[in-house]
This record gives sequence, C-alpha cells and structure tokens, in this order.
Amino acid sequence: MKNVRQEGVPSVTPRYEEYLDGILTSHVMAECDGAPGRHPMQLDQRPRMMSYPRHLIVLGAGGLAHEVLAYASTSPIEHIVLVDETAPDGTRAASGGQSFEVVNDWRVFESRTDLAPFRQFIVAVGSPALKRKLVAAALAHGLTPAPTLIHEHANIYGADTTIGVGGVIAPGCRLTTNIRIGAYPVLGINTLIGHDSTLGDYVTCNPGCHVSGNVTIGSGVLIGTGAIVREKILLADDVTIGAQACVVADIDKVGSVVVGVPARPL
Ligand SMILES: CC(C)(COP(=O)(O)OP(=O)(O)OC[C@H]1O[C@@H](n2cnc3c(N)ncnc32)[C@H](O)[C@@H]1OP(=O)(O)O)[C@@H](O)C(=O)NCCC(=O)NCCS
Repeated sequence: MKNVRQEGVPSVTPRYEEYLDGILTSHVMAECDGAPGRHPMQLDQRPRMMSYPRHLIVLGAGGLAHEVLAYASTSPIEHIVLVDETAPDGTRAASGGQSFEVVNDWRVFESRTDLAPFRQFIVAVGSPALKRKLVAAALAHGLTPAPTLIHEHANIYGADTTIGVGGVIAPGCRLTTNIRIGAYPVLGINTLIGHDSTLGDYVTCNPGCHVSGNVTIGSGVLIGTGAIVREKILLADDVTIGAQACVVADIDKVGSVVVGVPARPL
C-alpha cells in the first residue's frame, strides 16, 4: 500500500477487536437462527452496546456532533459533554429535545470533579485535519478513545471486519467482509464499503458514498457525499474526493483534490 501511513498520527490507536468480535459473532448467529419476524440487528445490539462507556466526550459541536447526539440516544451512553475550542463560554448543544454542555478548554477534564467520569472520546467532525488536531489534543490531556459508536441500524456482515476506535458509523452504513477500518473513522449515513477494503486512520466518508471491493484508502482521506470509488483503487493519504465524483484510477498524489466523472484533479 503506498502513501498510507502518515507522520503525526498519535501512537495510541488500539483496535477493539474483542469488542467487535462480540458484535460480529452475535450478528452471524442471529442471521443463522432464521427466527421469523426477527431482524438480526436487534440481536446484534446486545454485545455491541454492553462494553460502551456511560460517559462520553464528543469532539466537535457542529452539525455532525448534533447527529452523533441523536445516534447516542439509542445507546447506553448516559452523559455526554462536547468539546469545541472555538465555542464561547456557556455554549450548549441541543439535540432531540435535550441540551448538552460544550466545553472550550481541555483543562476542565483535569480540574472539574463533575467531569472526572468523562475519560473516553469519539470524534464528531468531518474534516480529517481537524480530527487529527482534536485527537492529538485529547490524547495530550490524558483522554483515551472510546470504541467507535456504531448505530444500531448500521450493518457489518463479515466476522473478519475490524474497526478502529474513536469514530462513528452512522445508520444505514453497510460493510461487507474482510474490511479494515482505521482509528477515528466517520462513516456518514448510508456509506457502503465493499469486501477486502482497507481504510486508514482519520478517514471520513460523507453520506451515501460507495467504496467498492479491494480498495485501499490512505490516512486522512475524505470522500465526498455520493462519490463512488471503483474496485481495486488506491487513494494516497489526505486525498479529497469531491461530492458525486467517480474514481476510476489510483490517486497517487498525497493531498490531491479530485472531482467529476471520471474524477480528475481540481
Ligand atoms: C471538491 C471540494 C472539496 C472542493 O471544495 P473547494 O476547494 O472549496 O472548491 P470550490 O467550492 O471553491 O469550487 C472550485 C471549483 O470546483 C468546482 N467543484 C467543486 N466541487 C465540485 C464537485 N464535487 N464536482 C465537480 N466540480 C466541483 C466548482 O464548481 C468550482 O468550479 P469553477 O472554478 O469552475 O467555478 C468540495 O466542493 C466537495 O465536493 N466537498 C465534499 C462536500 C461533501 O461531501 N459534503 C457533504 C457534507 S456531509
């Protein structure tokens, strides 16, 4: 795989394979039991949610964070605080009729006793560069990534798929088999990831994008909404694919922006 690793990625990128094993084993069993009228994903939720922290820090307080607050409402997470370094003091984020505190100073996680239970975070911003910045700051302040929040209406089919920590997988996502997702993923609503594909750390797939089979995606890649990546393609680190583009050839140049059908450099 070329141009995939990137300097500056924090060294703490553990995988929660055991956590995922629990999810996926249960999911396969549920599909096999053939119980009439019983959707496999209902059974899938029990192990998925069991290991989730009750207190969660959400990095970001914009539109995606509001969506994440809604996704979290169906999980066992009981308390959420958001971080936005640019938010004025006293900012709150509203979602689903609830209001959540937004903090703008990392030091509160050390100084405020009421925030002591908040140790684990996920990212809720789309920009891979901003994700890197926020994650680096969070790790520097002693926080650790939570398991990626996987919505109950996302489907992960292969028991051999692994997903890195600290991200979010939205409803409607479908991941087939033998897929490797790096740390801090953001997979927007209805993202499809095909077999044997690899996504590096900090990848963002905006809603409705389709990644075919055997695709290799570098770190920090952003795939725009509705874009398609053809099979066996390689995308270098920090590539941006424009909304509705169709990528039919490797994008080798780190940091390039491509748009259109077929996708060409902007
Ligand atoms: C490709 C992209 C990153 C370019 O952003 P940008 O650098 O700010 O570019 P601009 O908006 O200034 O547009 C520059 C040119 O590219 C064109 N362009 C921008 N996005 C395009 C796209 N997706 N497809 C085709 N052309 C595009 C513009 O029309 C403009 O053309 P012009 O110079 O002839 O007028 C951005 O447009 C994009 O598609 N991002 C993904 C957005 C997304 O997924 N949103 C969903 C959020 S949930």
